[in-house]
Amino acid sequence: MTNSLTTHPIHPAVPEDAAWWRHAVIYQIYPRSWADADGDGIGDLPGVTARLEYLRALGVDAVWFSPFYKSPQADAGYDVADYRDIDPLFGTLADADAMVAKAHALGLKVIVDLVPNHSSDEHVWFQAALAAGPGSPERDRYMFRDGRGADGSEPPNDWHSVFGGDGWTRVTEADGTPGQWYLHLFDTKQPDFNWDNEQVRAEFEAILRFWLDRGIDGFRVDVAHGLVKEPGLPDYDAELHILDGEVQPGAPKPPMWDQDGVHEVYRAWRKILDSYGEPDRILCAEAWVRPQERAVRYVRPDEMHQAFNFDFLQAQWRAADLRAVIDSSLAAADSVGAPSTWVLSNHDVVRHASRLGLPVGQRRPNGIAADDPQPDRELGLTRARAATTLMLALPGGAYLYQGEELGLPESTDMPASFRQDPTFIRSKGEEIGRDGCRVPMPWTKDAPSFGFGPSEASWLPQPAIYGDYAVDQQDGVAGSTLELYRELLRVRRERQLGTGGLEDVDGFGDDVVALVNTGQGQRTLVLANLGAEPVALPAAATVLVASGALTADGLVPTDTTVWAAL
Ligand code: GLC
Ligand code: MG
Repeated sequence: MTNSLTTHPIHPAVPEDAAWWRHAVIYQIYPRSWADADGDGIGDLPGVTARLEYLRALGVDAVWFSPFYKSPQADAGYDVADYRDIDPLFGTLADADAMVAKAHALGLKVIVDLVPNHSSDEHVWFQAALAAGPGSPERDRYMFRDGRGADGSEPPNDWHSVFGGDGWTRVTEADGTPGQWYLHLFDTKQPDFNWDNEQVRAEFEAILRFWLDRGIDGFRVDVAHGLVKEPGLPDYDAELHILDGEVQPGAPKPPMWDQDGVHEVYRAWRKILDSYGEPDRILCAEAWVRPQERAVRYVRPDEMHQAFNFDFLQAQWRAADLRAVIDSSLAAADSVGAPSTWVLSNHDVVRHASRLGLPVGQRRPNGIAADDPQPDRELGLTRARAATTLMLALPGGAYLYQGEELGLPESTDMPASFRQDPTFIRSKGEEIGRDGCRVPMPWTKDAPSFGFGPSEASWLPQPAIYGDYAVDQQDGVAGSTLELYRELLRVRRERQLGTGGLEDVDGFGDDVVALVNTGQGQRTLVLANLGAEPVALPAAATVLVASGALTADGLVPTDTTVWAAL
């Protein structure tokens, strides 16, 4: 390599004073598993409040909380019984206010999860719907239908639940006779709302205001692509992997996902958020939608601010795949003037330190069990560090999932008796599900529950190896994953990589992703080497941070990403 790099612009810079959500790094807290103050083995809001300084020191801009609302916890809180109250497991509204106040005092914004596709079956509206009977206004707030067949004993259509099994459950009417059916794209205890009903729309607008008035900075919108269904609820018998947006080639468009009518809902919400003035309050879509041209319709200027880039999460560990997804994501987002929102892990997918330790080219598994092929732990961590180092150099927003900053692997040896994900239960163990990425955080190696709480209790068992990943084992330790994340976030901020332009660099060969980020008018080379041979940096490059050690003569080894000043 010579010193003069040939580059092609692939994304223009945005102004450095662009709105915060265009470049923010947002840390996802899964409340049950982050910090437990009262020792019942389930994380809680006082536990969070006590540890917020850790996030400040990590260097993130905001925190997103998975649901902490009142809930029977049939899907770990994604089954909400009261959208305006906190579940006693997690604390009280006063605890939430205290947590938000402390976060704000530390300069952290707070995003909460909003679950508008369905409620819990224990929500007062659903209970009222059951009591009121067919044809009532109460039933019209959910998706009740008569069954097929002479006696109505067949479900109204052939839709399945994302978690396995039927998408419909038949109710018993007040007089004891078998009655109508209701739709649940997820668990039986998660009835879908009817978004054609004006009361549902008005209720969610009021819920938005309730949290905005409490000072919340935004919402992550659960199953944002599911609210509106195709009229007539037509049968859909093609196989569908619903939570990754994949539709079989040639299959018709699924009638339950990504209907044009959802956008009207978000346009109405955007007006409400905008009415709160500056700094912007935001909406982030969880929308497993393909292709990217469809996905970015959720982030058109009058709709949401962000949408998770799940194509990046699902990309194979191959340089050509990563280059392609980076290029196409930025082009798609730029076409509507939105930032891309990068993510590698969350509470629904195998942790990337384990996912990237599986053979390249296979489909992403839904959980890993002890008798499945096991990920290569060392390889997975090496690649995960390289992947994160690549991700955090990309312009736009980024989400981190609790524990990834420790390089935490998936729990892959959890006995079936502990599993709680409805996926595991409804698929009768055929799908392992998501418990393995939801295990409580290790904070202190030599403490009960690795410092998760004051007792030994932990709602999911922590693998013994988690002790070695504990925060206290990595804090201040050069080369640890925690220190790598801190350094990446520090340099990202210093060089304003989140708002920079991006250029593709020629000449490094097929197995390398080489980019230049132009943040702050400087040139930062980002080089990820996925090939077998070490790669030389340009002579003038000064290494700023690297995901792993360079070779003795300063080359970038396999599965390593480097940021260098040019
Ligand atoms: C989203 C959530 C997932 C939940 C599902 C149903 O995909 O991320 O955890 O199970 O929606 O609410
Ligand atoms: Mg607790």
